[in-house]
Amino acid sequence: MFGATRLPLLLLCAISLVLGTFMKEQHPLLGDDGQKPLPGKPKSRSTLPALLDALDVLQADYFEVWQGIWPTSIDWTSAVIGTYLSSAIITLSGSYPAFPSSKVADNTVNKYFSNLIGAYFGQDAFALRQEAYDDMLWVVLGWLETVKFIGAHSELHYGTDDDSRLAGPWYGHQWVPAFAHRARIFWDMASQGWDTSLCNGGMIWNPYLVPYKNAITNELYITASISMYLYFPGDDNTSPFGFTTPPTPQDIDSPNRPHHPKYLAAAIEAYKWLGDSNMTDAKGLYVDGYHISGWSRERPKNESNTRCDARNEMVYTYNQGVLLSGQRGLYEATGARSYLEDGHQLVSNVIAATGWDLKHGKALDEDEADKPRHRLGKWRGLGRSGVMEEACDAEGYCSQDGQTFKGIFFHHLTLFCERLPDHLVLPGELFLSKNVEDIPGGPQEVQKWHDKECARYGPWIKHNAKAAVSTLDHEGKFGMWWGAPPHSTADPDAEVDLPRQAVDSRNQGVPQEWKNKRRYLRKTHEDDEDDAHDDDNEGKIRIRDLNDRGRGRTVETQGGGISVLRAMLELVDTR
Ligand SMILES: *[C@@H]1O[C@H](CO)[C@@H](O)[C@H](O)[C@H]1NC(C)=O
Ligand SMILES: *[C@@H]1O[C@H](CO)[C@@H](O)[C@H](O)[C@H]1NC(C)=O
Repeated sequence: MFGATRLPLLLLCAISLVLGTFMKEQHPLLGDDGQKPLPGKPKSRSTLPALLDALDVLQADYFEVWQGIWPTSIDWTSAVIGTYLSSAIITLSGSYPAFPSSKVADNTVNKYFSNLIGAYFGQDAFALRQEAYDDMLWVVLGWLETVKFIGAHSELHYGTDDDSRLAGPWYGHQWVPAFAHRARIFWDMASQGWDTSLCNGGMIWNPYLVPYKNAITNELYITASISMYLYFPGDDNTSPFGFTTPPTPQDIDSPNRPHHPKYLAAAIEAYKWLGDSNMTDAKGLYVDGYHISGWSRERPKNESNTRCDARNEMVYTYNQGVLLSGQRGLYEATGARSYLEDGHQLVSNVIAATGWDLKHGKALDEDEADKPRHRLGKWRGLGRSGVMEEACDAEGYCSQDGQTFKGIFFHHLTLFCERLPDHLVLPGELFLSKNVEDIPGGPQEVQKWHDKECARYGPWIKHNAKAAVSTLDHEGKFGMWWGAPPHSTADPDAEVDLPRQAVDSRNQGVPQEWKNKRRYLRKTHEDDEDDAHDDDNEGKIRIRDLNDRGRGRTVETQGGGISVLRAMLELVDTR
């Protein structure tokens, strides 16, 4: 099960084909298929093999080592997939006792780490510079996550014993400057998207479209900025601009030093703007964003409207996710508990919108009289019967963007609910006195409260992980629609009411009126996706299961499965 080669999984598949059974039945993935965990074993033992299998499929079937790319992904989705891989090896690094030996564990972690190094060179950094600001910010988050992995792995396995002291730091350390440099370059470029001439601030989504201030770009800017503040280790590489004397990271005024206050300031300012932007709906969920009505390039600014007043009511899962890790980071950087409170409120709102009763820890539909009329539970805004669902899932029209969203939510939920540090390092208070920890509202009390809140999400996370696992096909690939009724090939009668004035641009393409043709004729990646979408639909002859419809199983849906399994492992099993 733990082998670093492909053989065990293939063998299992072969066996299950011969026996005519499903792999799931051969291979219990989650703890409660009637199998009690053995006493004395780590509780995570049943999720970890599932995560390892999922990673194996991700990297063996969807990654090309020789090119360093996930060839079927697009630039932004591969940045997200790489981020999941970095997070996953943080988890593996902390799970050595669950492996047969530390040699096996090392081999697995190093294999995926070397894939990430390949992906650093395979990443089309030049194309990404011409893309939208959100595309750039996914890149920042990805490499910061890899830097975090290197730090965590070194500390855990190469810090203290005599051998490592003699041998020097873990070899992965040599990559920190490269990854840090890419994160900084992309943060610098993306921060050009902050604009105060319209809507009193906020990030513009895409310089190639008419101005759209959307949730995702602003949430990413908050999260990437606070993550730069907390995790960016400094960078003295002046490429591509520099022949000036490189500023050293130690220089107090250098923009390249770690923990620079400009990142904290950017995150706080953007958070404030987002909070004031009226971007949430009646359910407390982030809608997609705002246009400026009557905006035109020709009219001077002083004569035309500059307010964000045309709201796109579309609700996506990822818009509820990215902010969470930003809120956690803002708490860590400032000690202000309100950021975490906002985050827990958002998580509760999301869980309610999937049709889950958080108070009683069960799906809302379970005791509803009208259940028999619908085979599926009632659509609640972000899912049904307690399972998170994208609006495009049930009818199978999700684009490559849409296929990535649910995984993003669970990735950031996991970051949000990770244990808080015992001590906060606040700006200007680098030497917090010991007894500050004991005061009410101090870090330790907040930590306890935060853990307790996060524990309430456990049954819901498990419910979703089980649903995701139910979409695995015989090759170990996750599908998109976790809530798909099993053993059904007919299109379900699945009504999804989109809010009025909702434009599902991320799945159905950017409408003509959003385009700013006069300025840029270049195709945006949205156009490319539409083409890819059509191609993928052609040549599909048989419909084998509901998750084969539309784009079917992809590297993006595999990423979603990995993300929810990791949430299960980190937030449920090991708590
Ligand atoms: C917030 O947006 C909604 C939907 O567009 C609108 O009905 C409401 O009046 C707005 N509230 C404020 C305070 O602008
Ligand atoms: C708008 O600005 C332009 C250029 O500064 C100026 O010529 C024009 O008079 C201004 N219009 C109004 C209505 O203030």
